[in-house]
Amino acid sequence: MAIEKVGVVGCGLMGSGIAQVAAQAGCQVTVREVSQQLVDKGLQSIEKNLGRMVEKGTVTAADRDLIRGRLRGTTSLEDMKDCDFVIEAIVELLPAKKELWSALDKICSKQAIFASNTSSLSITEMSMFTQRPDRFLGMHFFNPVPVMKLVEVIRTIATDPKVYDEIVAFGGKLGKTVVRTWDRTGFIVNRLLVPYLLDAVRALEEGVASVEDIDNSMKLGCGHPMGPLTLLDFVGLDTTYYISNIMFDEFKEKRFASPPLLKRMVMAGWNGRKAGKGFYDYADPAKPKAMRLT
Ligand code: CAA
Ligand code: NAD
Repeated sequence: MAIEKVGVVGCGLMGSGIAQVAAQAGCQVTVREVSQQLVDKGLQSIEKNLGRMVEKGTVTAADRDLIRGRLRGTTSLEDMKDCDFVIEAIVELLPAKKELWSALDKICSKQAIFASNTSSLSITEMSMFTQRPDRFLGMHFFNPVPVMKLVEVIRTIATDPKVYDEIVAFGGKLGKTVVRTWDRTGFIVNRLLVPYLLDAVRALEEGVASVEDIDNSMKLGCGHPMGPLTLLDFVGLDTTYYISNIMFDEFKEKRFASPPLLKRMVMAGWNGRKAGKGFYDYADPAKPKAMRLT
């Protein structure tokens, strides 16, 4: 089955990027958000990225118009009914995903393939909210999606191997390098990355060093493109907090537990760059100012 019509549910940081790369790959893309305001915000972020690509000459203005023409925003889940493939990128909370998958299962054709972009939830558990565990898998992209070259494609014991191979091939069509993995909490990348990010918060909490010095250490000492606290702001502190709770619940290991500071920042709504405030203040986005948090 050729994947021509793609549905993306959620048009936040990840959903907007996934919609963009699918449209760039020639698919007709329908992207759903919970309000028109959020649809517009997501599509504006795609527009901004495409504009930057035109300025740099990586796409022509004519191609940008074609890509734009393949994207359609909606607030109605019913608009997913003709999609060959639906990928979900909504908030990392199981009850929300459960409600969505059971609704989509009734709306979409039996042939449609479903994938979650979850960072840490069980793909097997989600697949059981549908009548199609054999056509359900994980497709985990990285932020920012148009730039990061990796996608993890995740199978469960129930995923049909043909469906799995089809989505591995689709990942290649989107221009990504695919790594294959099984449904284990955090898959490959987050299993390694999340304890590192949480340790950076613990180091800050314990007064080891300032926000800037922790970030500069990993940037300049280890050649990382971003320091861990900048990366946490970039990923979203709310998302990281949900991920850490899910991973701790699975492994019961302290390295996955959320540090109290992270929890308190999320409670205060300091969710990172998307909220204008996290480990840095983004009042002037070109010059983020490190916060004094401890
Ligand atoms: N959307 C689209 N494109 C973007 C972008 C965005 N948000 N931010 C930057 N870019 C593009 C720029 O346009 C630029 O493109 P060209 O190479 O064509 O010029 C390129 O990315 C580099 O950008 P900049 O020169 O402005 O900045 P930079 O060199 O500092 O790179 C970065 C920015 C790519 C984000 C880099 O800092 C980086 O790689 N950071 C680490 C990101 C990372 O680790 N992501 C994974 C997070 S974990 C995750 O996603 C999994 C999970 O489940 C939580
Ligand atoms: P985000 O907060 O930026 O966006 C989530 C969006 O989903 C919001 O705009 C929200 O309005 C929308 N939403 C919630 N319920 C919805 C519904 N029923 N229908 C349509 N839209 C709905 O979050 P994000 O960072 O894009 O994360 C989304 C998913 O991707 C999560 O599962 C997360 O774990 C995963 N993920 C995040 C990152 C990251 O770096 N942030 C990386 C890889 C995977």
